[in-house]
Amino acid sequence: MLRLRATSLARDLPWIDCGDPWAVLVSEVMLQQTQVDRVVGPWRNFLDHYPTPRALAAAPLDEVLRAWAGLGYHRRARNLWRCAQEITERHDGDVPSDLDELRALSGVGPYTAAAVASFAFEKRVAVLDTNVGRVLARCVTNRRLTGPEATQLAHALLPRRDVARFNQAMLDLGATFCRARPRCATCPLARVCAWRRAGGEDPAPFSAGVSRAQPRFVGSRRQLRGQVLAALREGPATEATLRVAVDEGLRPDLSSVLDDLARDGLARVARGRWRLAEG
Ligand code: ADE
Repeated sequence: MLRLRATSLARDLPWIDCGDPWAVLVSEVMLQQTQVDRVVGPWRNFLDHYPTPRALAAAPLDEVLRAWAGLGYHRRARNLWRCAQEITERHDGDVPSDLDELRALSGVGPYTAAAVASFAFEKRVAVLDTNVGRVLARCVTNRRLTGPEATQLAHALLPRRDVARFNQAMLDLGATFCRARPRCATCPLARVCAWRRAGGEDPAPFSAGVSRAQPRFVGSRRQLRGQVLAALREGPATEATLRVAVDEGLRPDLSSVLDDLARDGLARVARGRWRLAEG
C-alpha cells in the first residue's frame, strides 16, 4: 500500500496549533460546509464575540445569528449555540476530548468529532471527509471504496507521529488539488498517485464519503434563506417587506421558506412581523 508522506503539505491555518479546543471546534463546524478561505475572517469575528463555550451559551440566539454573517447554513449556528450550552452544562464549560462525548453534542457528527479529537487533543484518529475520501480512492488505491474500507484505510495510513498534521494535510490535499475536478497538473502527489499512474476512470465519484456535486446555489431555496436572514439581521420585518428585500425570482418560495426558518428555530413571527429567533 502507498504510504503517503503528506505531513509537510499541510497549510498553516490559524486554528491549527492554537491550543484552544473551543476555537478548533468552532472552526470545524464552520468548515463543514464552507471553504477554508471563507472561514478565516468569520472564525476570528465569532471568537472575538464568543471566546468560550460559556460566552456563547449565555448569548441570545438572534445575536449569534448576526455573528454568523457570511457563512450560510444557519442551522449550524443554532446547533453550535446548543452545543455550547451542552458543554457548559455537561462538561463544566470545557470541550470534551472523548470521541463519544464529542459525538453526543449538537451538530457534531463523526467527521467533526474526529477532527476536534485530532486537532485539539492530538488523539490518534483519522479524519475522513469527502475530500479525504477522494484522495484515498484516487491516490492511494485507484479503486472505488466502501465506507468501512475507507475508514479502515484512513486509519491504517496514520503515521506514528504528527497525526494531526497528517490529517490536516490530507484534508488540504483534497480541498486544494484532489477536488471533484482534480488539479493533477499542480498536485504534489501526482507522481505517486495510483490513479494517475494507471489511468482509466476516476474511482472517486461513487466511493464512500464522496458526495455528489452541490446543487446550484443561484435561484435555490438556500439562497432565499440567506437573503431572508440577512434582511432580518437588520431588524423585524413583515412578509411584504421581506418580499421586496429578496431577489424577484426567489419570491414565489418566500412563504414556505419562512415556515422552514420558523420550524428550524431560526426565525419567528408575532403580530405579522418576522424576526430572528431569540432562543
Ligand atoms: N483543511 C481543509 N479542510 C480542513 C479542515 N476541515 N480542518 C483542518 N484543515 C483543513
